[in-house]
Amino acid sequence: MARGAAPRDRAHAEPEKLAIFGGTPVLAPGSHRAWPIVTDDERARVTRVLDRGVLSGPFAPESLALEAEFAKFVAAKHCLLSHCGTGALVMALAAAGVHAGDEVIVPAYSFVATPLAVAQIGAIPVFVDVEAETGCIDPSLIEAAITRRTRAIMPVHMHGCAADMAAILAVAHERGLLVVEDAAQAHGATFDGRPVGALGHAGGFSLQSSKNFAAGEGGLFVTNDAAVAAEANSIRNFGQDVTRADAASHDATRPLDGTRALDSQRVGSMYRGNEMMAAFARAQLARLPERTAALQRRAERLSAALGELQGVIPPRTPARRTSVHHKFRVHFDPAIAGVDLSPQRLRDVMILALRAEGLEVVLWQSVPLPAQKVFQRRDASTGFPHAAEGGADLAVNYDPARYPVTAKLLAGSVVLFSQSFPLIAQSDETVDGYIEAFRRVWHQRDALVEWTARQPS
Ligand SMILES: Cc1ncc(COP(=O)(O)O)c(C=O)c1O
Repeated sequence: MARGAAPRDRAHAEPEKLAIFGGTPVLAPGSHRAWPIVTDDERARVTRVLDRGVLSGPFAPESLALEAEFAKFVAAKHCLLSHCGTGALVMALAAAGVHAGDEVIVPAYSFVATPLAVAQIGAIPVFVDVEAETGCIDPSLIEAAITRRTRAIMPVHMHGCAADMAAILAVAHERGLLVVEDAAQAHGATFDGRPVGALGHAGGFSLQSSKNFAAGEGGLFVTNDAAVAAEANSIRNFGQDVTRADAASHDATRPLDGTRALDSQRVGSMYRGNEMMAAFARAQLARLPERTAALQRRAERLSAALGELQGVIPPRTPARRTSVHHKFRVHFDPAIAGVDLSPQRLRDVMILALRAEGLEVVLWQSVPLPAQKVFQRRDASTGFPHAAEGGADLAVNYDPARYPVTAKLLAGSVVLFSQSFPLIAQSDETVDGYIEAFRRVWHQRDALVEWTARQPS
């Protein structure tokens, strides 16, 4: 049952029948454009790689060119291609100086790759709650999570919105900690006008297919520190001594026969990318600024329209930061909406109603990261590192109940668009459809609430 909210945003006479009740959906099947968009440019560039016959290697030409172009794009001095974003983050953590047994402070809301990158090098992720409006780590809570084992803070620029880097870097500076940025979702987002990624000691981006900058799979490590870059390059190549000087002696007619000694200096792995990925990525990067600007205009228009609906809260980007809206999270407030449902039930019925109208609506994540089994079990058989003596009490830190902002955010919001059909790929007309569907559904929320009450719980 709906409580008596102001009727002005409720349905008046004869509203369009909602698709969930048998009406015609706002968006017909096939209205969404799949991502990434592949043009003749991508085809030509990948074909050139195949014709050239050099498919891989740390000094292969497409990879080197992509690294130079992306370094420029994010104003970083050094960039290295890797085969995925998680690999780039592992390289960033290890090269910056995080070791087994160290603790790394991460947000309780992210994709699991953030804490797993930490655990993969034998370090311990320690969770901190997030800002309600952005989902980025809440800098005011970091201090309380620092122990004598803490080595780094790993902010995530969630959904493409820059984290509060000034506050994070200030805590890190004060406490002598490293800052390693998970910029997997945030290609081109800025803090105080500076692109994120290399604002701290090192960072990593993802080129996985859903990302605004997509290459199927792939990752990009960035830093401004030459020593950190050299270390990351070694980690990327089995711990071998790999220097840019080797590039000069690279012989394109014998691309697999480099001059570097096969004598590993440290524990490393194989995190390199390949030439098809790099060529595809270069074509995407050439269009990224223009596509990002169009996406930001669409996101603003969508936010403005949804913000007019009482109790619908679109993403808001705080001052000093920009967002590239990789994901578009919309919150519902039942009290403001005058709806007598829990946030979760309102969210769930909105998902059903909006999907029926043809919209892509997903939860993406549904619980704070520490609730995932790997962190609840944390035994050696799962690959979880041995907890550090004198460090955080993980039984306490991994209690999901300690992350009320993350839990509330997840219970009361949805992500519009999806991995296969992200906002960056959609036309203005499709976004208009989202606005119309939202208005139609929201104006008839009383009917949805009544329908929900009749459903078996
Ligand atoms: C926040 C975040 N971190 C890390 C990753 C890992 O990137 P990848 O899938 O390229 O390894 C992703 C995306 O998948 C992500 O969204």
